[in-house]
Amino acid sequence: MAAKIEIITTSDAGRLAEKGAELLYNTAKEAVARKDSFAVAVSGGSTPRAMHRLLSQEPYLADMPWQKTHFFWVDERMLPFDHPDSNYGAAQKDLMSIIPIPADQVYPMPAMMRSEEGADLYQAKLKTFFQDLGSLDPVFDLIILGIGTDGHTASLFPGQPSSQEPDRWVLSVKGGQPDVFRLTLTYAVLNRARHILFLASGGAKAAVVKTLIEDSRSQLPAAKIQALNGKITWLLDQKAASLLVEKKG
Ligand code: 6PG
Repeated sequence: MAAKIEIITTSDAGRLAEKGAELLYNTAKEAVARKDSFAVAVSGGSTPRAMHRLLSQEPYLADMPWQKTHFFWVDERMLPFDHPDSNYGAAQKDLMSIIPIPADQVYPMPAMMRSEEGADLYQAKLKTFFQDLGSLDPVFDLIILGIGTDGHTASLFPGQPSSQEPDRWVLSVKGGQPDVFRLTLTYAVLNRARHILFLASGGAKAAVVKTLIEDSRSQLPAAKIQALNGKITWLLDQKAASLLVEKKG
């Protein structure tokens, strides 16, 4: 794992959501002050939802620089947005439908087409977005990742070929729960983020969290997340951190 790692442990999942919202807010303010825009990519799954709901409420509803914020997705299941397992659908319900963000600054992954075509389309959208910012590199200010008990992150699953091509930014894959076609950002994008925020909650994640943080030889997909440009923050609740040798409050 990259050297620049911080571990934040909260008392429970509720505090984890609060700390996550605070971290996203502070990162947004810093990015807007530095370059007048904030680009964030969010993951699906259940863990980020409480944080998204907090961001849709005061003080974040009024204080977040929504007009300068650009929301992308780390991964998506190729399902209709009104499907209960749609990552965009969940975020739309919890956050996007409430916050005053310009509609053209919300970039859901295209889920209703052949996944290879969707991957190419989203890659082109990312290239245009970063080129408009004057960069050939996809450097997000913040990427929020979850982890599965099997060590997957985004939709990069164990035993699955993940593109190591530096120019491949979005992949079409099949797997996970639900076992469907998916789109996922690749390591080429994830590892270029200025700040990677892992969220993990609950005792079921304790063993994989310990492996990912303490076993530098791990070959699990989430172990290949290396902050080349920035830092990694592990935001854990006490249960997810329960097996770690050293805990920092
Ligand atoms: C997905 C997610 C996936 C998720 C983990 C953790 O679309 O499936 O992006 O990588 O982050 O599976 O999921 P939970 O937060 O529900 O435990």
